[in-house]
Amino acid sequence: MNANDIRTKYLDFFAARGHAIIPSASLVPENDPTTLFTGSGMQPMLTYFLGETHPKGTRIADSQKCFRAEDIDDIGDNRHTTFFEMLGNWSLGDYFKKEQIPWIFDFLVHEIGLDPKNLYVTVFCGDKKNNIPKDEETPMLWQKVFDDAGIDAKIVEMGSQDDGAIKGMRGGRIFYYDAKENWWSRAGVPDNMPTGEPGGPDSEMFYDFGTEHDMRLGEHCHPACDCGRFMEIGNSVFMQYVKKDEGVFEELEHKNIDFGGGLERIVAAAQNMPDVFLAVSSLTDIVRHLENASGKKYEDDLKSFRIIADHIRGALFMIGDGVRPANTEQGYFARRLIRRSVQYADALGIAEGTLVDAVSIVTKSYEEHYPELKEQEAEIKELFAAEETKFRKTLTKGMREFEKRAETGIITGEQAFLLFTTYGFPIELTQELAEQKGIAVDKEAFTNFMKEHQAKSRSGAEQKFKGGLADHSEATTMLHTTHHILLRALQIVLGDHVKQRGSNITSERLRIDFSHDEKMTDEQKSEVERIVNEQIQSAVPVIKTILPKEEAERLGAQKEFGQKYPDMVNVYSVGPQDAVEGNPKIEQAYSLEFCGGPHVTNTSTIKGTFRIKKEQASSAGVRRIKGVLE
Ligand code: ALA
Repeated sequence: MNANDIRTKYLDFFAARGHAIIPSASLVPENDPTTLFTGSGMQPMLTYFLGETHPKGTRIADSQKCFRAEDIDDIGDNRHTTFFEMLGNWSLGDYFKKEQIPWIFDFLVHEIGLDPKNLYVTVFCGDKKNNIPKDEETPMLWQKVFDDAGIDAKIVEMGSQDDGAIKGMRGGRIFYYDAKENWWSRAGVPDNMPTGEPGGPDSEMFYDFGTEHDMRLGEHCHPACDCGRFMEIGNSVFMQYVKKDEGVFEELEHKNIDFGGGLERIVAAAQNMPDVFLAVSSLTDIVRHLENASGKKYEDDLKSFRIIADHIRGALFMIGDGVRPANTEQGYFARRLIRRSVQYADALGIAEGTLVDAVSIVTKSYEEHYPELKEQEAEIKELFAAEETKFRKTLTKGMREFEKRAETGIITGEQAFLLFTTYGFPIELTQELAEQKGIAVDKEAFTNFMKEHQAKSRSGAEQKFKGGLADHSEATTMLHTTHHILLRALQIVLGDHVKQRGSNITSERLRIDFSHDEKMTDEQKSEVERIVNEQIQSAVPVIKTILPKEEAERLGAQKEFGQKYPDMVNVYSVGPQDAVEGNPKIEQAYSLEFCGGPHVTNTSTIKGTFRIKKEQASSAGVRRIKGVLE
């Protein structure tokens, strides 16, 4: 059974139970300024939960086009897609749990043919803080339908996702989880809901693919585990509350059902194929096309193939709903999807002009249910190709520029800004490339550059700051690492009583205040300079490690004066590195400091020779050095 068969069966099933079948609303919501995209089937239905009368009555069903921008970074696993269809059925103050549970079970088991032995369900255990009771009725309804199918369905208390990983399944079929797992509103858990927002307990259905559990996620697998063995294929929300105030939830005038089930995932379950990219033909056909175009195998680079296939389909549906690639709002996402797919395709060796052929693959798959895509095919192709050409023109140069910048160990805000304005790299692409290399991007500084860019007319008032780093520019970063090297050199020359008492670093110079109560001699100053320059010239790795605070203290990591640290801390080491794993040999480090960075990745990238420009008293028992890289 493919996606088209299952969509049709679903709509027919609910039409036969008195539901009006409505067409999918646009991916771009109408009259809803709170969100850029329709992300669930219920979004266009919201006002009807709150009491408006739906023109089609009290029983509605559809297959809604959805796009979840927040999932872009999750693409690459077996089940996430940015664009998907959500099968939905709604009761607007009409039927409730005792109809919904048997119907949806009947649909999944008898219409689609899922083996009920592979189905597991979850229910809401209540929220004491918000006075919302445990859902006692739903587990009984599930037990009955499982029993009719010859399955003795045991009810088990679970709690949170973490509890699940500790406790395991314990022979259960129906599991009680907390609000994080089994409460649904547009804003998430009850605490996060604004007043006036409707929400309710839900009951999710999971299909067990029986794949191996990933132990990194905890000792035991369980339905809400993220390892991919259990896939959520549907969710019945009992939309019956509205938030009145903090901690105050009232019953809505009429109780509603909001069911949503990911079509792609139901297809995967129907085929007992845990990979949606191999189960859903529109995605599989793109994957095969990419294999031909690249000469590479899907199995050898799952992530790249999945990203490209997902993004092409998503961009195409967006364009089909009138979105045009741009630098703002919905258009930004269309642009980001196309550019990211081009970047990954380029890395796979796919030449310009080949990706666009995937557009026809998609429009063909959907021609029956979404004929508007086929009708717009020529235009969609033209827009896609134009965006690809525009990006390809700068991609090679931008990648070269990126590589060059990456050598310093950090992409500064200014560089990220340049990559965006000159080479068309959306900030998220720069961040992703940086992550692959294990280096940081100064997003905050980037945002500031964007703001500054937008408010260019205003003159740049001089930056005033008390301590720390003036900015995250390359020059400041180099001086920041030099500052660490200097502190250690002062301890070597003057003694271990030397502790940092203050710091202030700009792109021009560093300043350090440190405990020591005598003026330094000329010999001491030159010895300190010699040690610092020796470290710079010796090309020593600078590495960030995350350690428990106590461990960092035990290793003698230097602290910032007066600073309080959390349980887990970042420490930077200047010192040797394990040749195989790349981990710092912390015990042998020349310098070790509690620090959030940024730093260069190797002292060899520090340009110039360190010189002490001034050494003077700062306050009682504290000296101050100003130094530069010349
Ligand atoms: N609105 C519910 C969801 O999106 C069905 O999961």
